[in-house]
Amino acid sequence: MKILFVCLGNICRSPLAEGIARSKCLSIEFDSAGISGYHRGEPPCSGTQKVAKEYKISIEGIYSRPIRYPQDECFDWIICMDQANYEALIDVGFEAKKIRKMGEFGYRGEDVPDPYYYVGLEGFRKIYAMLDQCIEQMLIDLGVSND
Ligand code: 4NP
Repeated sequence: MKILFVCLGNICRSPLAEGIARSKCLSIEFDSAGISGYHRGEPPCSGTQKVAKEYKISIEGIYSRPIRYPQDECFDWIICMDQANYEALIDVGFEAKKIRKMGEFGYRGEDVPDPYYYVGLEGFRKIYAMLDQCIEQMLIDLGVSND
């Protein structure tokens, strides 16, 4: 099983999701990517780095990359953060049946908000809490053993 997390820039939300998922489950492969290649090659943004450190989540070795179509079709599931990501993935050609929005796993389908312009850490802490809860449920719903 391979799961790809997608947000817009692949520097704030999806790298944090990747790190949280790795911390909860060692038996499957996780990766992340951005709809845009604007931050290609960059490490996660400072808010994500600070929150990851605070919650002892490793995001080391994650650098932004854009989604690749059709190569990323090898993932069993693509978990995106908001409606705009979802629509962009469909536009690029990914199959709707393998795409889920993160908020469907615990926040009634709510979007995980774009934190790019957040000042301070409170917004990033909220995103962390949302991702942590949703990923816990995602692993159950997608039938992944939670080790
Ligand atoms: P992310 O946050 O999608 O969670 O990585 C963003 C990062 C960069 C931009 C937007 C959102 N940007 O417009 O460059």
